[in-house]
Amino acid sequence: MTTSLIVANWKLNNAVPEALMLVAGIEAHMKESPNVEVVVAPPFTALYSVGVALSDGTIKLAAQNIFWEEKGAFTGEVSGTLLKDVGCSYVIIGHSERRKYFGETNETVNKRIFAALRNGLVPIMCIGETLEEREGGHTFDVLEKQLKNGLATLQIKDLEHFAIAYEPVWAIGTGRNATSEQIAEAHHFIRNLIAKLYDAPTANGISILYGGSVKPSNAKEIFAQPNVNGLLVGGASLDAKGFCDIIAQSPGQR
Ligand code: 13P
Repeated sequence: MTTSLIVANWKLNNAVPEALMLVAGIEAHMKESPNVEVVVAPPFTALYSVGVALSDGTIKLAAQNIFWEEKGAFTGEVSGTLLKDVGCSYVIIGHSERRKYFGETNETVNKRIFAALRNGLVPIMCIGETLEEREGGHTFDVLEKQLKNGLATLQIKDLEHFAIAYEPVWAIGTGRNATSEQIAEAHHFIRNLIAKLYDAPTANGISILYGGSVKPSNAKEIFAQPNVNGLLVGGASLDAKGFCDIIAQSPGQR
């Protein structure tokens, strides 16, 4: 059984007291399993406190972004060194909200991936098409461009500890998740393209996560799709019980 990776993206939510209550709630409700890796991504301001709270347990810590330089005159930025310092082991890169609101491009995604790898952080690289792109029949062109440019000049060894999250933009925060067929088709496309760009073992070693309106009621069906190795959960991860209900649907827990 391969390990499922389940990541809670808290986005811009939870001051330190709420963040600590939420992780305590997850730890209380979650059934531990060697076949499931659970990761939480609090906002930067709660990383340190949550990292301390999690230090004796199995839940891992992720940041929601990383800057590509290590230090210097870059007001407002946070480096990989600083993320390691507060206990992060994963980092979300290129989320569609960053692409939409903060000018993230495939080129900056690529720089951030290198910064993560340099610091021993596992990148969770987000890709996905908008509704307009899907309706225009461009989904696979968009995914291919995001992958090729985002992964530019990365070598096989760089992808040994790596996750890609397929998050169709139109499914994020809308309550409308992609269908099983759409998920299976996109995940197959991603795995295949990695095999073509690198090789089959590399493609098979990458965790491909689905994100977009995941909830306890649809998690089991999503997990059942081929090439789905985990989930990236937004809104539903803000409730400890609901998030643990999602974790309980993973193949590693059933
Ligand atoms: P929702 O689960 O709220 O749709 O958000 C998904 C997401 O963007 C996770 O990164």
